[in-house]
Amino acid sequence: MDAQFDRVREILRGAASVAVLTGAGVSAESGIATFRDPDGLWAKFSPRELASMDGFLANPERVREWYAYRKTVATTAQPNAGHYALAALEQQTNGSFCLITQNVDRLHQRAGSRNVLEVHGNLIENRCNDCEAIRTDDVLVCPLCSGAMRPNVVWFGEELPQDVFAAAEQAAMTCDVMIVAGTSAEVYPAAGLPYTTKRYGGVVVEVNPNPTALSSEAHYLLTGTSAQILPHLVGDVP
Ligand code: APR
Repeated sequence: MDAQFDRVREILRGAASVAVLTGAGVSAESGIATFRDPDGLWAKFSPRELASMDGFLANPERVREWYAYRKTVATTAQPNAGHYALAALEQQTNGSFCLITQNVDRLHQRAGSRNVLEVHGNLIENRCNDCEAIRTDDVLVCPLCSGAMRPNVVWFGEELPQDVFAAAEQAAMTCDVMIVAGTSAEVYPAAGLPYTTKRYGGVVVEVNPNPTALSSEAHYLLTGTSAQILPHLVGDVP
């Protein structure tokens, strides 16, 4: 693996543009459950009931409670060495750097990452189902239009925030290298971004303890957890 680390570090040092795509695995070492691991959220809860508009309309109180629970978990968790390594990588990258995350826990921002694209929203904000007003308090009814307030998280079957995803696609097309860390690479359109990078001639580096749907397409596979692997890609960590 050392030769792979050296090569990836060399590619990162020479890159004019770096993109990163993260998934729930990057927050696992902060104590936040992933979705599809054996002990993940979808093994315990129903995505249809809790992460869909139908589920919200059927039982808004249950959905709001579940997201309030996830918000408490996220706000009491601490960023881990993987989050801090990505913030350091952004600092050391001379060219452009973009961190695209499917995570809604805001741990990247708390670790110091600045150019973060949250393609699946975040747990901190609520959004009006009608006028799309954003609020960080917990009112249930939009004061502007009386619409129902819901978590500002993208649910199954919903469109991603178009401006955010357009920026993510642009980063995927123009980057010299994309690090893909902690994602099963199963949920589109976010899972399509590494393929875009490869199609436009960029190098794809996967960081994951397990094989994924992307593994056969990645140029480099760094097998291990993000808190173990990512610090070795930054600076001159031996
Ligand atoms: N470090 C790195 N990767 C890890 C770690 C770790 N410590 N622990 C687990 N993983 C990997 C798993 O091997 C798996 O490939 O993280 C990945 C987690 O996959 P998912 O649980 O499917 O999470 P994610 O890919 O982020 O899901 C994408 O699906 O449910 C929706 O909106 C939700 O954003 C989410 C999207």
